[in-house]
Order: sequence, then C-alpha cells, then structure tokens
Amino acid sequence: MRTYHLAVVVGSNRKESINRRLAEAMARLLPPNFEVSYPRIDDLPMYNMDLEGDRPESVNRFTAEIAAADAVAVVMPEHNRSLPAVLKNAIDWGSKPMENNVWRDKPTAITGTTPGAIGTAVGQQHLRQILGILGALVLGGEAYIQFKPDLLDENGDIANDGTRAFLQGHVDRFVSLIESLTPE
Ligand code: FNR
Repeated sequence: MRTYHLAVVVGSNRKESINRRLAEAMARLLPPNFEVSYPRIDDLPMYNMDLEGDRPESVNRFTAEIAAADAVAVVMPEHNRSLPAVLKNAIDWGSKPMENNVWRDKPTAITGTTPGAIGTAVGQQHLRQILGILGALVLGGEAYIQFKPDLLDENGDIANDGTRAFLQGHVDRFVSLIESLTPE
C-alpha cells in the first residue's frame, strides 16, 4: 500500500491554538498509510516582491514542504470573517512566482474551529475562493466546528461521538479524493 504525505497547515500563530489541537485530533482519524507534517507559517516574513530572487530560507522551506506533499489540509480559525493574515501570507508566498505555484492541482481540504456557532464558515468561503483561483483541488462540502471546552477529551481526541463521526466522514472523503488523484 502506498504511503501518502499530508501537510497540515494550521492557520494560527498562537501557541495554545485550538485549531492546532483540532488538527492533531483529526490527524488521528487518518488511515495508517498517511504521514503527517505541520509546516510552520509563523516565521515567514510578510510577502514582499523585493525579496523575490533571494527568497528567505523560511520561505524556501515552507514552499518545498508544500510542493513535496501529496495533499494539504488547512485547519484555521476565522479573523473578522476571513482567513487569518498569517495564513494568507503563507498562501501568497506559495503562489509566486506563478510558474512555481505550489497550490496548483494540490488536493486540499479545509476545516476549522472557533468558539462562535458559525465560526470559520465565512472565512472558509474566502479561503475556498483564493485556493480556487490558484488551481488547488479543494474538497467540496463544509466542516466547521464550534469550539467548546469539552470538544476534545483528556487525550486530545474528539470527545463527542457525533462530532467524531462527522469529521471521520470528512477525512474519509478527503482520503478517497487523494487516492483517486494520485497514482499507486
Ligand atoms: C477573532 N475571532 C473570531 N472568531 C470567529 O468565529 N469569527 C471571527 O470573525 C473572528 N474574528 C477574529 C479576529 C481577530 C483579529 C482575532 C484575534 C480573533 C476569535 C477566534 O476565533 C479565537 O481567537 C480563536 O481562538 C482563534 O483560533 P486559534 O488561534 O486558537 O486557533
């Protein structure tokens, strides 16, 4: 059985990020032939075209990690009903130069959590639009999770059976998409 590499991009630079915790819980719903990494985005400088030609090391590291991945999962909060600036910055770095756009044809899934009842739903629409323009193959459907203190159990797993089943379905659909798009 082929091993797949999934890059999980957490769209938060907060140490205690609830999205990082959700991402780690969701990674445990993947089948055993999936390896996961968490590319950093918090050390990327603000995109500046003047830096093209001699890109900072952190930028080269990030874009190489995305380029090498079979697929990308974005797990992000929502900032003012959009995607957090730290994530948009990382996406911008990956999108240039156009011929090296790392997002093109990349199977990508979007999830996220905030304490708000519809938290991340609107932000996810913005992200979907951006990734669509960049040519990513974004999994259809929506998965936005309201964060409550009891969302995760003491092991960091999804505590509620219904929420876990819902997210397992989302993960399973993404796995099917990745497998259908990538050769054995
Ligand atoms: C927020 N937050 C927020 N939440 C939400 O559901 N919708 C929103 O539009 C916003 N807007 C927003 C703007 C800014 C600038 C901040 C700092 C926060 C609250 C946000 O969901 C909360 O801080 C989460 O804890 C962020 O997730 P991480 O960083 O813990 O993963």
